Amino acid sequence: MTMTRPHPMMPAANHDELAEQKFVLAFKTYVWNNLDPLLVEEARTTARELEQDGTAAPFREVRRQLASKPVYQNWISSMRAGQEMMWQAAADCVDRQQTDLEERAQQAPPLGSLRVDPDFEIPAYLAAADTHMQPGGYESNESDTDVRQGAIYDKAAWLYSLGRQGGELADMRGHVVVQHIMERFPGFAPQRILDLGCTVGCSTVAVASYYPDADFHAIDVGAGVLRYAHARAAHMGAAVHFSQQSAEQTDFDDNSFDLVYSCAVLHETSNQAVKRIFKECHRILRPGGLMVHLEVPVRAEEVDVVGEVRGDYEARYNNEPFWKGIAGFDLDELARDVGFVEVAADFQDAVTVASPDAEPGFGKPNKGGYRSWYMVSGKKQGG
Ligand SMILES: C[S@@+](CC[C@H](N)C(=O)[O-])C[C@H]1O[C@@H](n2cnc3c(N)ncnc32)[C@H](O)[C@@H]1O
Repeated sequence: MTMTRPHPMMPAANHDELAEQKFVLAFKTYVWNNLDPLLVEEARTTARELEQDGTAAPFREVRRQLASKPVYQNWISSMRAGQEMMWQAAADCVDRQQTDLEERAQQAPPLGSLRVDPDFEIPAYLAAADTHMQPGGYESNESDTDVRQGAIYDKAAWLYSLGRQGGELADMRGHVVVQHIMERFPGFAPQRILDLGCTVGCSTVAVASYYPDADFHAIDVGAGVLRYAHARAAHMGAAVHFSQQSAEQTDFDDNSFDLVYSCAVLHETSNQAVKRIFKECHRILRPGGLMVHLEVPVRAEEVDVVGEVRGDYEARYNNEPFWKGIAGFDLDELARDVGFVEVAADFQDAVTVASPDAEPGFGKPNKGGYRSWYMVSGKKQGG
């Protein structure tokens, strides 16, 4: 863990805060390396014992049995405790320097823009619960200068993933999106780009670095995270126009973008919202424009009992109720249904830098979290 900041908006930790964050990191690493293998064994054994004549028992029965087993109890309470401690550690660090962070946001270079909508209505599927257990969810916003929610998210991002999604910048997903485009649509050079569900802009800035002359837009539902995202991007030299809008229905003109993409957004929305988002992508893309969505590498056809246990934890105890819907959703069929052509959906190997000369990584076997991502992409007919 470094004491230097990866960008000027990242809250710097003092000695005690660093110790608290290091404890969270060690705790989460311990759960992953030491408790998770025991959970895997227990879940498989329980499922095997309940199997009858080669037929798997319903997952609710496996879960009922697991609930009384100390290995499962220990794992699930440690998972939940790790999440709670992570958000607390990030908040402790941010709250000490909230005024400084707001000032730093206001001193950002005049790049890009920020448009918030005081009348914006948070989609019900996000307002219902604090996604990932972050107190206040993505939408908390206390004032016209508030950057707290974004700062906490950014500070926690690399603890969440144990640094496996691009270190403190947590920007791997953006690089993977560009790698995917370079492989599937070589030479594609978008001039107007939209990032849907950008949160604090980790992927936004990464994608923008490959297309520095593009007119770059990014949207999300939370004013606080967007305010932080704008300052973060500007301090990093990226001119991005952030606005508070729902990806289901934006105010952008028809046929106005060359590239519309999202990173890890669809699994946090309802199935109905996913359908509306695909339709909206089609409306705002120009003929010949590309839609690209990056998702967590979980597909229903691959989910075994261990995947069910982990997904059950995500849905019940980490406020991620929609992962199962998206894992079973035929995203390529949906893309074709709304009018996209040259559609493909498959796993893509993770990269931390995109390059047209890299070994192709699309269509490779699923290597698991942070080593593979699930991609769906297609082109709007014409152009
Ligand atoms: C896991 S985060 C995405 C992270 C970000 N794309 C990145 O790669 O760093 C999911 C984001 O999607 C946003 N989101 C969910 N539904 C949305 C919608 N209908 N419109 C806009 N943003 C949405 C959430 O507010 C949240 O910020």
